[in-house]
Amino acid sequence: MSASVVPADAHGIAEAARTLASGGLVAFPTETVYGLGADATSAAAVEAVFEAKGRPRTDPLIVHVATIADADAVGDLDAHDGAARRLAAAFWPGPLTTVVQRRGGVVASVGAGRPTVAIRCPAHPVALELIAGAGVPVAAPSANRFGRVSPTAAAHVVDELGDRIDIVLDAGPTPLGVESTVVEFGDGPPRLLRPGGLPLEDLLEVAGDIVVPERLVVDGTTAQPGPGMLVGHYAPQLPLVLVEGAGDVLAGLLDELRARDVDAAVLELADGDAGARELYARLRALDGTGAEVVLAPTVPPEGLGRAVNDRLFRAAHGHIAAEANAATVQRILGRLGR
Ligand code: TXA
Ligand code: MG
Repeated sequence: MSASVVPADAHGIAEAARTLASGGLVAFPTETVYGLGADATSAAAVEAVFEAKGRPRTDPLIVHVATIADADAVGDLDAHDGAARRLAAAFWPGPLTTVVQRRGGVVASVGAGRPTVAIRCPAHPVALELIAGAGVPVAAPSANRFGRVSPTAAAHVVDELGDRIDIVLDAGPTPLGVESTVVEFGDGPPRLLRPGGLPLEDLLEVAGDIVVPERLVVDGTTAQPGPGMLVGHYAPQLPLVLVEGAGDVLAGLLDELRARDVDAAVLELADGDAGARELYARLRALDGTGAEVVLAPTVPPEGLGRAVNDRLFRAAHGHIAAEANAATVQRILGRLGR
C-alpha cells in the first residue's frame, strides 16, 4: 500500500471521509499534530491503527468527535459534578482531551482494556468536517510510528507511515505543534496526565482542583502518570540531554564537550507558542545533522512551554544536566560510549 497525499479541499475531505467510513486509515490535520484516523466503531479498523503504528495494545487511543452531543454517546462527561462537561463546554473544539468512563458507541479496544475512554473535539476545520462527514467517532493517535516524534506536517506522516495507510489529508503545518492536554476524571480529583496544547493556566481558571504531578515522570522506573507517557517517547535518533539552569550551564557543557572533540548540537527553541510550533520539525531535522549529541535547554515553563519541556524531557530519556561539572560531562560521555 502507498498512501495518496490529498489536498484538504472539499473534494479531498469527502474522499477521506468515505475511506474512514469504509474501514480505511486516514491521516488528517488537527490544531495540534497530524492524527492517524480510523472508525472507532470498527474493531478491524482500530486494530489496523495499532498495527500500522507498531503501538502496544496496552496504550489506549483518543476518540475524536465533532460535537459535545457526539461525545455524550461515547463517554460520561458528568462525573465529578460535571467538571468534565464544564471543561468541554469551555475548551471544545480545542486541544483538550478528557478521560472519562466509556459508554457504548466505540469498540472496547480503543480503551486498551480500560473501562475509560479519552475523548477530544479538535479545533481544526478540516478535522471537524472529516469527522462529521465520516459519520462515526474517529480513533486517532498521532500519525507517527510508536515512540517517535509526532508529525506536524503531511511530509512527516509520509516518512513515518506512507507505506501503511490509505490517505494523508494535507492542510500544511499544524498551528500548535504539541499534542492535546490530557485530563483524567477517575476516582479521585481530576488529574493532568499530559501537559499539552491547552495551557495549564487556562485549564486551572475553569477547573481549579486539578492534580498536577510535579515532574510527570522522574526516570524510567517511576510510575507513569498515564499509559503511553513513557520517558523515551517523542525521541529523535540522536541522544539528547535536557539542560536546566542558566545559560552558563549550556556554555560550560559545550566547552567541555568540544574540548573532547564531541560534536554537540544545540536545540534552542523560542519561548512559548513559537517554540511549541517548531519543536517536532526541529527534533526531526537533528537526525540528519551528523552531530553526536544534542543539548536542549529548557524553555520558560509558561503557556505551551510546559508541554515543550515535558516532550524534551522524554526525548532525553530523562537525562538532565543541571551543572557543567565533571560528573555531568562524564555521564554524557558514558552515554556516547566514550
Ligand atoms: O493532540 C492530540 O491529542 C493528538 C491528535 C491527533 O489529536 N493525538 C494524540 O494521540 O496525541 P496519542 O495516541 O499519540 O496520545 C494519546 C495519549 C496517550 O498518552 C494515551 O495513553 C492517552 O492519551 N490515553 C488515551 N486513552 C486513555 C485512557 N483511556 N486513559 C488514560 N490515558 C489515555
Ligand atoms: Mg503519540
